[in-house]
Amino acid sequence: MIATATKLKHEVKDLSLAAKGKQRIEWAGREMPVLGQIRDRFAQEKPFAGIRLIACCHVTTETAHLAIALKAGGADGLLIASNPLSTQDDVAASLVADHGIPVFAIKGEDNATYHRHLQIALDHKPNIIIDDGGDVTATLIQERKNQLADIIGTTEETTTGIVRLKAMLKEGVLTFPAMNVNDAETKHFFDNRYGTGQSTLDGVIRATNVLLAGKTIVVAGYGWCGKGVAMRAKGLGANVIVTEINAVRAIEAAMDGFRVMPMSEAAAQGDLFITVTGNKHVIRPEHFEVMKDGAMVCNSGHFDIEIDLKSLGAKATGLREVRNFTQEYKLPTGKSIVVIGEGRLVNLAAAEGHPSAVMDMSFANQAMACEYLVKNKGKLEPAIYSIPEAIDQEIARLKLEAMGMAIDTLTPDQIEYMNSWTSGT
Ligand code: ADE
Repeated sequence: MIATATKLKHEVKDLSLAAKGKQRIEWAGREMPVLGQIRDRFAQEKPFAGIRLIACCHVTTETAHLAIALKAGGADGLLIASNPLSTQDDVAASLVADHGIPVFAIKGEDNATYHRHLQIALDHKPNIIIDDGGDVTATLIQERKNQLADIIGTTEETTTGIVRLKAMLKEGVLTFPAMNVNDAETKHFFDNRYGTGQSTLDGVIRATNVLLAGKTIVVAGYGWCGKGVAMRAKGLGANVIVTEINAVRAIEAAMDGFRVMPMSEAAAQGDLFITVTGNKHVIRPEHFEVMKDGAMVCNSGHFDIEIDLKSLGAKATGLREVRNFTQEYKLPTGKSIVVIGEGRLVNLAAAEGHPSAVMDMSFANQAMACEYLVKNKGKLEPAIYSIPEAIDQEIARLKLEAMGMAIDTLTPDQIEYMNSWTSGT
């Protein structure tokens, strides 16, 4: 059911889910003290007064806290989903009903609706874009050239979006500054590694309820996300194989204790395949062909392109839903392949995405990146900017403090030593 209010424009599944969403948003807030402090400061300082801001994010309890913090800072904001399957409908309802934030997102929305929501977001005439995967920025540049002059900048959440921004910059079409939130240390060290690691397996377990101990799990890609998935799969007792295209990362995986081999070999050995590469068709027909009967495949990379599901579907003689978010494809050989989460981000499709404690730091970076763009309006060339180290360190300091931990400080003698080069052996 689509509800559309007259006063506040929105498109969410069902506003009566708001009470449940409110409760879950409150729960997530317990694990998000850093963003909470930033929200309180924003409420005092109003850095976004007069700023129109659109966010294209997974609509989760954690994103709710980001949206609330930006609104507290005076932003005239609007939120859309960055993936058709990742929206938490109760959260979307609560943001509309309890916080007066326009949201256009429905779990399971089709591609046409997803793209219509993108256009609605751009109709809001944004000054700042928070992007997760680059779809809004790419659409703006391709279709809304007349709005480019309004843009103060964009902030990008994920590795895939950064790859796209670099391509835009190279082609000379990026006409405004872009903040690389993904590469902040307080983002990718924790969100990509521990967040993806835990939530991906959470998604697999919620969808299938299979025991992972003793299973052979093939992790495709050993970037920060792949490292996290492999580490957590090992911790649950799985036998982990890593596939890579980068020789250095392959050595790293081998020295971390994983077997490394090409997908052509791994395909016949895996019980469960998890793609986290950011590239397309990492698992394709020749791999499906040699997989074990009942092999399970899923993806935790940003887009649903890593598993060639079109080819699998074309070959299949039957397709049935065996559990929520779990579909079984029957092949002419009589074997079956199980696909979890329709090849979309399994952690968000079948579970709740990264836990709040890591999103606390990711979204603290997003919030402060937006503030940085506003403070430096007109001063930044079109380019991709790292999050300033001072912001990264401040977020780490606040997180550490919230975790009740203290660290050492250098003595004057140590500082002098670190700044000298004369004393050696
Ligand atoms: N990306 C991964 N997990 C997420 C979450 N919980 N909220 C928003 N974006 C996410």
